Amino acid sequence: MSSANQDRPSSTGIVVVRDPGLLRQTVSSWHRAGYHVGLVPTMGALHRGHLALVERARATCERVVVSVFVNPKQFGPQEDFAAYPRDEAGDVEKLDLAGADLVWMPSAATMYPQGFATEVTVQGLGEGLCGAFRPGHFSGVATVVAKLLLQTSADQAFFGEKDFQQLQIIRRLVQDLDIPTEIVGVETLRESDGLALSSRNIYLSADERAIARVLPDVLGETARAVAKNSESIPAILAAGERRLLESGFGSIDYLTVADIETLRPVDVVVRPARVFVAARLGRTRLIDNVPIVPLQQGDEISRSRPTADVVT
Ligand code: PAJ
Repeated sequence: MSSANQDRPSSTGIVVVRDPGLLRQTVSSWHRAGYHVGLVPTMGALHRGHLALVERARATCERVVVSVFVNPKQFGPQEDFAAYPRDEAGDVEKLDLAGADLVWMPSAATMYPQGFATEVTVQGLGEGLCGAFRPGHFSGVATVVAKLLLQTSADQAFFGEKDFQQLQIIRRLVQDLDIPTEIVGVETLRESDGLALSSRNIYLSADERAIARVLPDVLGETARAVAKNSESIPAILAAGERRLLESGFGSIDYLTVADIETLRPVDVVVRPARVFVAARLGRTRLIDNVPIVPLQQGDEISRSRPTADVVT
């Protein structure tokens, strides 16, 4: 797809749409005008990580739709659905500044009307990593994303590598269901100390925020050690877990090296793999992942530090 940014047809300003008929009409008119339409699905409480997805979408799509919907189906009964941060007006303002064209803000009743009975489950990929700790979560994600892709008829949809398991599940979903949307993964945006931007970071107290930086540190150290092949992967992971717990993390759901295609843990790296972590700090569950970058001859071992896309 060609770059849409240089001569992007000027938009008439951002519109907020809550009715699926109007959404369809608007997108159809854009398609008739020959515009590529990009979709950035979000649950709102937008931060610069989300806005990086919008920017990426604007690079290849003449029109950008951002959905803001806190999807009840992807939260477990003990999870933070009710407390999840919501800021509709702030989100619309940020999206307007970021150059999005349309905010798709359906109500729960619009998405899941009385009698709604369909669930989309991607087997295999949804079972490990977070799937093992959040039963039903990825079916909730797959169901809502399938709907969002069909509602918007987007040509491309943009998802963060921050939620790498989600990204791979969605790639599988569109392939399996012949949904004609190209899925584009976008690198994780991080704070200057390496912490990945996340809507849930606002739950962290000042003390917890100071501890949170250990998470990307451990990911980076683990990725470098695995790339160097200095010790066995189980020993490297055990050292990483110790450091997290000693730093003040309450519990670790997983710290693991997994294949990027199957998402299954590996003991030796023979194909592209990433280090994945989910750990709890106070009441906040943080997740993150980084690639394992194979060392080249004479390489400094800092290549797999998770410092790309730093914002200050
Ligand atoms: P949400 O957590 O709001 O995230 C929306 C998108 O932003 C996801 O694709 C996520 O991976 C991406 N994102 C979050 N933090 C990021 C960061 N620091 N850098 C780059 N991208 C980042 O993920 C969801 O919502 C939902 O599960 C959703 C896909 C919308 C379905 O309900």
